[in-house]
Amino acid sequence: MTRPRALINGASSGLGRGYALDLAADQYDLVLVARDEARLRELATSIGTEHGTLAEVVVADLSTRSGIDVVRTVIETSRIDLLINNAGYGLKQGLLESEVSELEGQDIVLAGAVRELSLAAVKQMRSRGRGGLINVSSMAALTTMGQYAASKMSTLVFTEALAGELRGAPVTVTAVLPGFIRTRFHERLGVERPGPGWIWLDVHEVVAASLRDARRGKVISIPGASYRAVARIARFVPRSLVRWGSTGFSLSRRDES
Ligand SMILES: NC(=O)c1ccc[n+]([C@@H]2O[C@H](COP(=O)([O-])OP(=O)(O)OC[C@H]3O[C@@H](n4cnc5c(N)ncnc54)[C@H](OP(=O)(O)O)[C@@H]3O)[C@@H](O)[C@H]2O)c1
Repeated sequence: MTRPRALINGASSGLGRGYALDLAADQYDLVLVARDEARLRELATSIGTEHGTLAEVVVADLSTRSGIDVVRTVIETSRIDLLINNAGYGLKQGLLESEVSELEGQDIVLAGAVRELSLAAVKQMRSRGRGGLINVSSMAALTTMGQYAASKMSTLVFTEALAGELRGAPVTVTAVLPGFIRTRFHERLGVERPGPGWIWLDVHEVVAASLRDARRGKVISIPGASYRAVARIARFVPRSLVRWGSTGFSLSRRDES
């Protein structure tokens, strides 16, 4: 029997690595995408040993035209049953301290590449009559925390719009809005993990909840009961208060050494 095949970008660490391990345990063959070849190869080898499924490695920088092209070609020329657009990173400095090129690079990874790869994949899936797309956005999409929030909001709305256009098609489309997750994200950003322990989600928790929601055809997945409550309350919070809280939080992180 042919095994299902998933392409995960940002698979070298954190959430993407978690998706890879969970799906391999579920007997998926995988295409693992990121820039760090050594980490991807180590993951591919352990998946082969532990689960006996195939894991291909594709080294690509999704902030570049050539990197996006490499991944789009894989999507257009081979069967991908599930695409998970997960690659992402934050910037410590604010908008006024950033080079426009830095903001553009971040926006390409968080939104531009997601848009292009999503469209390439769902067109293939629709014509094959099956498939799933998961785009990792963030609870930050509900805030005004810099370019990161703007790009994550773009991905959220894009994913919802795509789900609307695909209504009735045999393709599921899901935006995931995680809160804080224990990954390398904050370490790479150079900031301490903020807040009390309870706000931190485990990778496994986010992976399991979002895959379950995607299988049920949910368009928005918010892992964790506390974060679902926050999202419900956020609808009623005045925008001025959201801006005040977001700016305060961003400034406090920037002040960290
Ligand atoms: N951690 C959190 O609190 C949190 C909360 C909400 C949402 N998220 C989102 O969750 C997703 C996964 O992040 P994470 O928490 O797992 O962080 P992570 O451990 O730092 O992993 C980020 C992944 O993205 C890849 N990546 C970054 N830039 C890339 C580029 N230019 N081209 C290709 N791959 C790139 C990295 O691989 P390479 O460096 O090898 O390229 C890595 O595999 C991101 O979209 C993030 O915004 C995270």
